Amino acid sequence: MKEQLNALRERALAELADLEQPKELEEFRVRLLGKKGEVTALLRGMGALPAEDRPAMGQLINQLRNELENALDAKEQEITSRLKEQRLLAERLDVTLPGKAADEGGLHPLNIVLADLIDIFQSMGFDVVDGPEVETEHYCFEALNVPKDHPARDMQDTFYLAENLLLRTQTSAAQIRTMEQRKPPIRMICPGRVFRADEVDATHSPVFHQVEGLVVDKGITMCDLKGVLEQFAHEIYGSDTKVRFRPSFFPFTEPSVEVDVSCSACGGKGCRVCKGNGWIEILGAGMVHPRVLAGCGIDPEVYSGFAFGIGLDRLTTTRYKISDIRLLFENDKRFLDQF
Ligand code: DAH
Repeated sequence: MKEQLNALRERALAELADLEQPKELEEFRVRLLGKKGEVTALLRGMGALPAEDRPAMGQLINQLRNELENALDAKEQEITSRLKEQRLLAERLDVTLPGKAADEGGLHPLNIVLADLIDIFQSMGFDVVDGPEVETEHYCFEALNVPKDHPARDMQDTFYLAENLLLRTQTSAAQIRTMEQRKPPIRMICPGRVFRADEVDATHSPVFHQVEGLVVDKGITMCDLKGVLEQFAHEIYGSDTKVRFRPSFFPFTEPSVEVDVSCSACGGKGCRVCKGNGWIEILGAGMVHPRVLAGCGIDPEVYSGFAFGIGLDRLTTTRYKISDIRLLFENDKRFLDQF
């Protein structure tokens, strides 16, 4: 029986050495050490031995059993760590590979120009105010001295939401709100969207942007208007840009002007951007009409002021030589990526 034991030991250890998978180990364990396993069978077979041989034999079998159990445990550890290593190798990441670049957002060209414009006016002591896009006739027209029969008030030009409620056609409405709320000295700009019932084409859009400006104080004259607006135009277009003031008309200013700058695309010779005449109109302005001041409770005998309305879209398209205003509103990423 001893020989049988030794043969079993040798065969089992040799077999164990060749195993590679956890499943094979388990089968091996059941086959040798399980309830119906070979080693267990040996223990059972002891009944056939003479009683005096049994203790020694039992000891030997238990020894074999322990030996095999230890060998199995060792093998199991070996297999587990080999498998773990294989998995680590297979799942290896190359951390030196270049990553996927994230698509970065950027400012819309209108916002780039607006930020410059705000900088320029803030450095001249203006502050920035906000006004509602939905306005009443009072703020958009009445208080701005726009008479009842003025064509701007027509349904064909203005989007009415209800009687006496409309989408503002001009940021000038913010002048009135500001003067009603504050006492002079006032120096403010109000950027925002405005709405007009215009057909869409390369230079017109029913939604566009203005920046309103207002200065009210004692002793403000046309010279202040000229100085501020010239300074602004030079900062936006460069100091060699020529600035021209043309007499014009707005119901809320007297006198009124329109301001042109020499075309930055052709330097004033005439090209497609300036439609051949060498100048580009960028804003309307004027001395605030005494009736408008008085209507807001500001005494026109004591105070005077000037106001202006800048076309932000025009400023942006001329600065970046954008040929079609629609590009500003379509939000095509290929266009926006260029700024
Ligand atoms: N609101 C005028 C427009 O939409 C622009 C304008 C002109 C604004 C003269 C002013 C101003 O404040 O004084 O065409």
